[in-house]
Amino acid sequence: MLAPAAEALGVRFSVLAETADAPATQVISEVTVGDYTDFATLKAFAETVDVVTFDHEHVPPEHLQALAEAGHAIRPGPQALIFAQDKILMRAKMDDLGLPNPAWATITSVADAEAFAERVGLPFILKTPRGGYDGKGVRVIEDLAEVSDWLEEMPQLLAEEKVDFTRELAVMVGRSPMGQTAVWPVVETWQQNGVCKEAIAPAPGLPADKATAITEAILKVAGALDVTGVMAMEMFETPEGFLINEFAMRPHNTGHWTQDGAVTSQFEQHLRAVLDLPLGSPAAREEVSVMVNVLGADHEDLYQPYFHVMAHDPAIKVHLYGKSVRPGRKVGHVNAYGYDRDSVLARARHAADFIAGVDVDPYPDIPAPTHLAADDEKETL
Ligand SMILES: Nc1ncnc2c1ncn2[C@@H]1O[C@H](COP(=O)(O)OP(=O)(O)O)[C@@H](O)[C@H]1O
Ligand SMILES: [Mg+2]
Repeated sequence: MLAPAAEALGVRFSVLAETADAPATQVISEVTVGDYTDFATLKAFAETVDVVTFDHEHVPPEHLQALAEAGHAIRPGPQALIFAQDKILMRAKMDDLGLPNPAWATITSVADAEAFAERVGLPFILKTPRGGYDGKGVRVIEDLAEVSDWLEEMPQLLAEEKVDFTRELAVMVGRSPMGQTAVWPVVETWQQNGVCKEAIAPAPGLPADKATAITEAILKVAGALDVTGVMAMEMFETPEGFLINEFAMRPHNTGHWTQDGAVTSQFEQHLRAVLDLPLGSPAAREEVSVMVNVLGADHEDLYQPYFHVMAHDPAIKVHLYGKSVRPGRKVGHVNAYGYDRDSVLARARHAADFIAGVDVDPYPDIPAPTHLAADDEKETL
């Protein structure tokens, strides 16, 4: 999804892909197939470009450090990226910066887990510090017996209190090497079994002072870590405020709505930021934008249902990734936007479910958009 943005910006773009049939190879002509954990492969690739960036966090930090020391422009730099790679280092950094963390502890023994359970009670959350995504690497611990088998596989785990959140939120910023920043509106997100399913922009009913505190927090992190590119901050909203969950330093699922709903998409902004170009406006184009993921279900061939959705709702935007369908796998997303949240949400949910093959009415009853009665009502949205 970075490729169309690169093309529009007139930027030569090449990819180091894991396999010859990785989705990126379908849309990028300059492809090197190689292992991103192998230093020689990374080094040879870095020699061919001016700037190196990422679409996941799993490149070994020590390799990135060595490339940066050899003079390659790695953006975001390893000194920042490490806090999106390692959740224990991230928790400690948030404490240093005085930003709101849930209660947490590093767990290296069953005794540590017992002490943590005494502090916060059961159940609590246990995470692998590195390598997790889509809820893989996150467990709810109901019984301390579940800790020991995991400790055998991994020397260090991160324990967190199980936050009783009212909802999950996310926010994204773009930041360039010259230090320019642009923050998109805060969104409400919904994770199903640890997998992002929906994002609503802006987060419905979020009080302005909370949105400001969240914006200030992400700007503080971006500045303190000298982040370049786009960064997402996931949060838990609580009645008192918010707690930080984690960071991603790349275009992120909770920012997909910006492709159709914001003046500048996260993909364009990421390239502008890593290339040290002036940033684009992060303003929303519409009152409400909704992104719903298409998670693999019954349809293996997504074309026929896609065809129907396009005909049924010409204003919906469907983005498919060219991945083979597996149950629960993210294979695409849809964006809908407009001025009436209930209607936009219903349209986006229906389109995503219908494409995936969830058993839904092909011709659903979508609530008609309610027209805004007066200008003062518009201001409260
Ligand atoms: N401390 C916590 N309390 C309650 N729920 C949590 C906690 N940590 C994670 N979760 C839930 O699990 C999801 C995935 O956890 P996260 O740390 O974001 O992992 P991933 O790297 O897989 O996205 C979160 O979006 C949230 O729904
Ligand atoms: Mg997450």
